[in-house]
Amino acid sequence: MHSERNIPRHVAIIMDGNGRWAQAQGKERIYGHMQGVESVRSALKAAVRNGVRYLTLYAFSTENWGRPAEEVNALMELLCDSVIRESPELQKQGVRVRIIGERSRMSEKVQAHLARIEKETSTGEQLTLLLAINYSSRSELTATMRRIAAEAKAGTIAPEEIGEQTIAQHLYTADIPDPDLIVRTSGECRLSNFLLWQAAYSEFYFTEVLWPDFNEEEFDRAIQAYQRRARRFGKLSDQ
Ligand code: FPP
Repeated sequence: MHSERNIPRHVAIIMDGNGRWAQAQGKERIYGHMQGVESVRSALKAAVRNGVRYLTLYAFSTENWGRPAEEVNALMELLCDSVIRESPELQKQGVRVRIIGERSRMSEKVQAHLARIEKETSTGEQLTLLLAINYSSRSELTATMRRIAAEAKAGTIAPEEIGEQTIAQHLYTADIPDPDLIVRTSGECRLSNFLLWQAAYSEFYFTEVLWPDFNEEEFDRAIQAYQRRARRFGKLSDQ
């Protein structure tokens, strides 16, 4: 059972190290991604068990298109197959899936699969799983600014009315609370264009563990590290 004390409401994870994990065993990179799906399953289970309400996973960045076509195609296929295969289990666990990212560059088939999983899981109330696919924070912010500018031009919003809330409500993550905890695996200590606006007050947890080795115990360890942090949001600790 989880303690109610100081559980992060929203955990976001940069899943990194699949390729290195596979290569270390003399295997193809895609083997690491396949093993990574097992870690996604574990993270989801641990998130539900701990009482986390939102879990965001960085599954494919806009920069990932630059990888060899073979790896890109295999990753897209793996993503689609996994979400479709897991759909009944996700529904059973009360998980609602929401995709964040620019869909237009994905194939019709991928777009259809993603729309299907969103629809099938739309009534889940236990946890919202945000899958960041073809996502980058700068492109999200650019799209947001374009939409707000168009609204200003059309006269539906006045420039002086534009506040932080206006921006937040135009992001892919509208209505989702900011991440309390951002985890990155594989020893890299950077954000890589992930949730730049939303991460303003997030706590960070970096671990050397490669994503395919990130099991439920590792997830619990990240939560425990978060529970030891004092979040002040720019104020003093006694305020
Ligand atoms: C980073 O490792 C991982 C990715 C780019 C893909 C993550 C995708 C999955 C775990 C598969 C499916 C996900 C879901 C949500 C079902 P890397 O390839 O950059 O590793 P490296 O840094 O060692 O090269």
